[in-house]
Amino acid sequence: NSPQREKREKLYKINVEAARYFYKNLNNNSKAKNYFLKRGITSKTLVKFGLGYAMDGWSNLINYLKGKGYTELDMIEAGLIIKSKNDSYYDRFRNRVIFPVFDYKGKVIGFGGRVLDDSKPKYLNSPETYVFKKGTNLYGLNFALNNFNGDTLIIVEGYMDCISLHQSGITYVVASLGTAFTQYQAKLLKRYVKKIIISYDSDAAGQAATLRGLEILKKEGFDVRVLTIPDGKDPDEFVKNHGKEAFEELIEEALPLTEYRIKVESNGINFDDKEMIIRYTKKLIPILADLQPIEQDLYIKRVAQKANVNQQALYDMINRYLNRKS
Ligand code: CTP
Ligand code: MN
Ligand code: MN
Ligand code: MN
Ligand code: MN
Repeated sequence: NSPQREKREKLYKINVEAARYFYKNLNNNSKAKNYFLKRGITSKTLVKFGLGYAMDGWSNLINYLKGKGYTELDMIEAGLIIKSKNDSYYDRFRNRVIFPVFDYKGKVIGFGGRVLDDSKPKYLNSPETYVFKKGTNLYGLNFALNNFNGDTLIIVEGYMDCISLHQSGITYVVASLGTAFTQYQAKLLKRYVKKIIISYDSDAAGQAATLRGLEILKKEGFDVRVLTIPDGKDPDEFVKNHGKEAFEELIEEALPLTEYRIKVESNGINFDDKEMIIRYTKKLIPILADLQPIEQDLYIKRVAQKANVNQQALYDMINRYLNRKS
């Protein structure tokens, strides 16, 4: 029973106490409960994910936790409250619906809070604490590992994406929570699967995050595929509008790494425009140069045909690129 372990246990305890409090508040606040219900979250899902509500006011949680014997210092260490300039304290989460963040064992390590309207910031998260470190956890992993078939995990961006997919019956889903996907998270996943499907939002930010995540996952040796949501939506909106089977079709159609990278470069290219083709092929060279011989041969054939250029020209460009690099 090391002091570090005791420190962790203490934080888990205060966090779970706060989570219970937020959860009870949700049932007493029809505005907050209706927020989730309107977004298609069922009562069963509210319970499963321990969703809650932080009431409007400056010291609701402080008073509650004091009643449970916790000090303000405990609450500060858990990131639940904030110390103001004149040395008074106030609740971090106010008038927000609450998503408790669990670690892979199901311990509550932090919280996310969302506004009920369009005000900013949309989400507020716990600060880093002794048990909550950015980029080391994956939201929903504790649930995904329940009845897990050990084959594939899907990574989404947001709380609601993860929750909606689980609710639809697609339970092998975890969320990276909008932060850049880290090598540490990749290593965590390595314990469980060889295959990863990235299913980020189809906006520009999501696409950029996908390309960064791909690099990290490839480095860790995963079989990575990219699922693209049509209509510029996110997985939550898609599965709500189109259902489980439609999402499973998107899973089937998820593109392997190289296909996805080539597709991203092909977006908006007019293959009748020679200048565009030249720029396009230049951008593809680092991608093609990276491939194993057979894979490279197959993709070079495809690109040559699509751009209507000679395969040998592409090989020449790859060689020049590799010579320059070495
Ligand atoms: N995020 C955050 N802080 C923000 C915005 C986003 O921490 N100010 C994180 C949240 O974990 C969020 C994820 O990034 O779930 C994805 O962001 P975004 O796509 O903007 O939000 P959604 O999850 O789609 O939010 P919602 O559907 O509730 O509007
Ligand atoms: Mn987004
Ligand atoms: Mn549609
Ligand atoms: Mn969303
Ligand atoms: Mn989103």
